[in-house]
Amino acid sequence: MKSLAISSAFLLGLMATTADAASPYAGQSRAAAVCAQCHGIKTPSADAPFPSLAGRDVAYLKLALSQYRDKTRKSEIMNAIAGSLTDADISNVAAYYAGLH
Ligand code: HEC
Repeated sequence: MKSLAISSAFLLGLMATTADAASPYAGQSRAAAVCAQCHGIKTPSADAPFPSLAGRDVAYLKLALSQYRDKTRKSEIMNAIAGSLTDADISNVAAYYAGLH
């Protein structure tokens, strides 16, 4: 009984945070599944043409992803990838990468 109460409090807390704030945890799973294939988690291999995202400014990352999504910034690869991101996805992956050092 006690553990049930604790886990529902935990779930409510999670729901509250995902509703109005970026979740680096959600961002991390998407980054690991999608972005890391090209961008790596911290740094790409030295000869890769992909920019490193770790520790970059969160506002910059969000802006870049929104621009790729609405195609005001052109990149065949990133336009295709960002096209399927929601606003929450963008906030989450930006928060995740910005938080890496
Ligand atoms: C198939 C490879 C690939 C994948 C997967 C990929 N990217 Fe990219 N990304 C690129 C390339 C190539 C560029 C450089 C494009 C350009 O010239 O603007 C780029 C550029 C970016 C930039 C701009 C960086 C800068 O310095 O301005 C951001 C931000 C970014 N990607 C985020 C992401 C995120 C977040 C994901 C996962 C949702 C992701 N990318 C997945 C290849 C990829």
